[in-house]
Amino acid sequence: MLVELNAKQRVAQHAADLIENDMVVGLGTGSTANYFIEALAKRQQGGLRCTTVASSIVSTLKAKSLGLSQVSMEHLSHIDVYVDGADEVTEDKVLLKGRGSDLVREKLLARASSEFHVLIDQSKLVDRIGQNYPIPIEVMPFAWQLVLRSLEALGGQGKLRPNASGDGFAMTSHGSLVLDMAFEERDILALDSALNATPGVVEHGIFTGLATAIFIADESVDVIEQRR
Ligand code: 5RP
Repeated sequence: MLVELNAKQRVAQHAADLIENDMVVGLGTGSTANYFIEALAKRQQGGLRCTTVASSIVSTLKAKSLGLSQVSMEHLSHIDVYVDGADEVTEDKVLLKGRGSDLVREKLLARASSEFHVLIDQSKLVDRIGQNYPIPIEVMPFAWQLVLRSLEALGGQGKLRPNASGDGFAMTSHGSLVLDMAFEERDILALDSALNATPGVVEHGIFTGLATAIFIADESVDVIEQRR
């Protein structure tokens, strides 16, 4: 029986088909990344040899449950390809990520990999970062109020991300709190630099100059590839 794949599954399959024997593959976090992990596990069952490194506890467990061979990040100095989703992508391949609260590992993998393949559908394409979502900013817990003041001085407005039950605050895998911040329309590269230079900020969701290819699920054709 032929099973029809949804948009996220189609880009995930496309990315998995590009993985070659003996590659070290970074696994992203989120629903699209999960489809990629499933597609990669199927390729492994078909004889592909590869090693994976996960960006979160969730993707570690997913890969483990499907029998993918894994190594932890501290044993690696190089990754061949990192495959992950994104919340927003602009024409010049700037990304917004981080609804999953695992920004530190995600950005480390994106930076350490020879290739970073981003899997999205058309709904993630935006004219400017911050168009549909606030920018997630991981902060050291004790510094959150001071960081919030610094971000307000940069023109930001926002608050701590609540936890799932709404009775406390969300914590990342590394014990940081997350400020979800909206900024006035502004130069995103300047904002990226300003956030990188703000003491108390652990990591943030703007990814500039890291994506090497964007794979976009499309209605009419299978997948559109935009490469650097
Ligand atoms: C997690 C992320 C995800 O890649 C992003 O939120 C997209 O998720 P999904 O594939 O579920 O749409 O950045 O931190």
